[in-house]
Amino acid sequence: MEKYKVGIIGATGMVGQRFITLTDQHPWFETVVLAASSRSAGKTYAEAVGTRWCMEREIPAWARDMVVLSAEEDVEKIASMVDFVFCAVDMKKDEIRALEERYARCECPVVSNNSAHRWTPDVPMVVPEINADHIRIIDAQRRRLGTKRGFVAVKSNCSLQSYVPALHPLRKYGLEKALVCTYQAISGAGKTFATWPEMVDNVIPYIGGEEEKSEQEPLKLWGTVAGDHIENAQGPSITAQCLRVPCSDGHMAACFMSFSGEKPAMEQIKADWAAFSGRAQELKLPSAPKQFLHYFEENDRPQTKLDRNLENGMAVSIGRLRPDTQYDYKFVCLSHNTLRGAAGGAVLLAELLCAEGYIDRR
Ligand SMILES: NC(=O)c1ccc[n+]([C@@H]2O[C@H](COP(=O)([O-])OP(=O)(O)OC[C@H]3O[C@@H](n4cnc5c(N)ncnc54)[C@H](OP(=O)(O)O)[C@@H]3O)[C@@H](O)[C@H]2O)c1
Repeated sequence: MEKYKVGIIGATGMVGQRFITLTDQHPWFETVVLAASSRSAGKTYAEAVGTRWCMEREIPAWARDMVVLSAEEDVEKIASMVDFVFCAVDMKKDEIRALEERYARCECPVVSNNSAHRWTPDVPMVVPEINADHIRIIDAQRRRLGTKRGFVAVKSNCSLQSYVPALHPLRKYGLEKALVCTYQAISGAGKTFATWPEMVDNVIPYIGGEEEKSEQEPLKLWGTVAGDHIENAQGPSITAQCLRVPCSDGHMAACFMSFSGEKPAMEQIKADWAAFSGRAQELKLPSAPKQFLHYFEENDRPQTKLDRNLENGMAVSIGRLRPDTQYDYKFVCLSHNTLRGAAGGAVLLAELLCAEGYIDRR
């Protein structure tokens, strides 16, 4: 099969590096453009990324000598070279929104890791197992932008990628409210222990903007397509506290939940988790985990270090389901923040958009 030609915007960053490793030998995608700021443009990728390369594997040979283009100055050129781009840049939100729309208006679909467009009413924010149907809103977005191919689609925040999938199959029981405390790895801030030594032996009880995202984004994910916008779900209500903890990768969440009606039995909840699959599994997308939700019976699982890489970091691990004295139940869950929570989630979304015909080969 002829592969889709891909550009990575923000290729020198931490998420950009993940996109490079995930598209290396991908069965559908071939990266042909690497772009970053004007500071990196004109250099080879190896020169531009320098000592910032922090993946476990070496830079793939095809990327090392590729000359980096300017994400802002070469928009038309990049759009003409690729079938779509992944975008993960560290810029002001209004600048990111404008940049992503420039690519879309050049008829280049944008699959974004950035939060800038998550609340644009006609931009789908998608976890392919949960709300794959939201991509239909792209038709309305294209009408607004006046494009035939171009659009922006985003993935949701990394903090919620464990507890929203775990809560999703339980909404049918009248899930009323949830309380979550997240324990988030330092790679979520684009850092390593070398670049953030203050995090060794430390916990920081604040991650700017994270609690609002953790509480509000689930309501868009659980919303419905209504004409030219996504109508948010009214509930369940979620309250969140987000802490930065000294782990390299992997966001853990402690979650409490209550139902409005009769609560399901614990064995029923575990059966719902085991049986759950979504559009990503139905379409057998290359990056989809075979089993999305894994339940561990052991009391000391999931553990960040042991379980974050389950199914190539694309599955969610759950454990410790038990009754609570104030909520109906509580449990713990885990997902890999830079795989499922960032670049991996975006690659899966791009696969969905290709499989459903929203991205084509030019
Ligand atoms: N890290 C995570 O786990 C994670 C998870 C979800 C979402 N995100 C989001 O993904 C985005 C990137 O995060 P990151 O951790 O990869 O950041 P990062 O490591 O700081 O990388 C930032 C990238 O943006 C580029 N950039 C900066 N200013 C630019 C400009 N004016 N024009 C074009 N490119 C520019 C940088 O290029 P130069 O090298 O040339 O400066 C670099 O490639 C952010 O919006 C972040 O919020 C991150």
